[in-house]
Amino acid sequence: MSSSHAATILPARRVRGRLRVPGDKSISHRYAMLAALADGHSTLDNYAPGADCRSTLTCMEALGVETRRQASDAITVMGRGLRGLRSPAGPLDCGNSGTTMRLLAGVLAGQPYTAQMIGDESLSRRPMRRVVAPLEQMGARIESRDGHPPLAVHGTVLHGISYRSPTPSAQVKSAVLLAGLFAEGITSVTEPSATRDHTERALRRFGASVVVKDLTVSVQPASRLVAGDRRIPGDISSAAFWFVAAAGIPGSRIEIEGVGLNPSRTKILDILRRFGARVTVTVYETGPESQTLESEPRGDVVVEHDRTGTLIITPEEVPGLIDELPALAALAAFGGEVQVSGASELRVKESDRIAALVAGFRALGIDADERPDGFVAAGGTPTGGSPDAHGDHRMAMAFAIAALAAERPSTITGADAVAISYPQFFDTLERLVR
Ligand code: S3P
Repeated sequence: MSSSHAATILPARRVRGRLRVPGDKSISHRYAMLAALADGHSTLDNYAPGADCRSTLTCMEALGVETRRQASDAITVMGRGLRGLRSPAGPLDCGNSGTTMRLLAGVLAGQPYTAQMIGDESLSRRPMRRVVAPLEQMGARIESRDGHPPLAVHGTVLHGISYRSPTPSAQVKSAVLLAGLFAEGITSVTEPSATRDHTERALRRFGASVVVKDLTVSVQPASRLVAGDRRIPGDISSAAFWFVAAAGIPGSRIEIEGVGLNPSRTKILDILRRFGARVTVTVYETGPESQTLESEPRGDVVVEHDRTGTLIITPEEVPGLIDELPALAALAAFGGEVQVSGASELRVKESDRIAALVAGFRALGIDADERPDGFVAAGGTPTGGSPDAHGDHRMAMAFAIAALAAERPSTITGADAVAISYPQFFDTLERLVR
């Protein structure tokens, strides 16, 4: 196996092991941006090692923020204060990272200058009107290429709004709340359904005043943010691939230590139980990471194979599982059946994940069909084959896990995409397969 352009995956008898996964990508982006805006230095321990969170750091550096890599995966960010970001000399390169571009649009909307943001080919195809519209309501002006990157954000003095978001998107909510730090008056966002709440927690952790009531979050304009050292939990969306392999293959057991257990991200564990896996969770109860409003809970999770079932994922469940759907789809390779509906958002991720998933599964010899808003994938032993990751990290990992169930070796094209969120994925896979 190698993590270069193509990776060969051999059929596996089972997977077993105890491990940690990379730091949470969503939390890393938020802590890096807020640490940059805080007064003082913040050391972010277990900062996500992938290219996406590197893109956020590169953008913050271009805005005048000094960062220092410490031992292992810790990063120190020298905050410049809420009004301290400098006008960048050139375009801010967000790479493949939608979270970088959308959240940073919120920050840039409140700056007294114009900044450009660019992205790679995949990011350049992704919809940005969802953040442009509310930020323009707050007073900024944002030029785009017909609703797509590149963006030119003309920052200004913003005013607070009450925004009703038509899309359940944590990135949209976060862009508006970050802009709200710089606005006059209170800014609130109401979502159609709950999404991950890392921004709400992180804002509080860095000293901003946030109120949550049902599906509405409000932020007060801030005068300063407070720096501090933070530990970032393991990314449950990365852990999801190992959980699925353990749930799917008889005799398997995977234990992940120090994984993030924020309740807005743990729906995957309920779904694995519904599929028939044994799932045991131990939440760490002590220390500064314990269950307070601003903390990010962590713990150990064990997943063991037990039964194989049919999974029907309903539209209401989708926002809580959006990044785990590619991993869950791989359960179909182990004799399960997976049906997903109400997930048309998958079409505007790093790839069109519905089309890419179905094409890749068929290449592996798994029965799969597209729906406009989802897919159906059905069991049977895959033959093995050569799926294409379409430059999408989660596609590469989903195909690798599904290929463990195949009759013969498979080759995943574009496997190097794992570098976006999980550079060590293939090395870890080699270690876990027995
Ligand atoms: C993210 C929110 C989700 C998710 C993405 C990370 C975040 O996107 O898919 O990987 O960190 O806020 P949407 O907000 O587009 O649903």
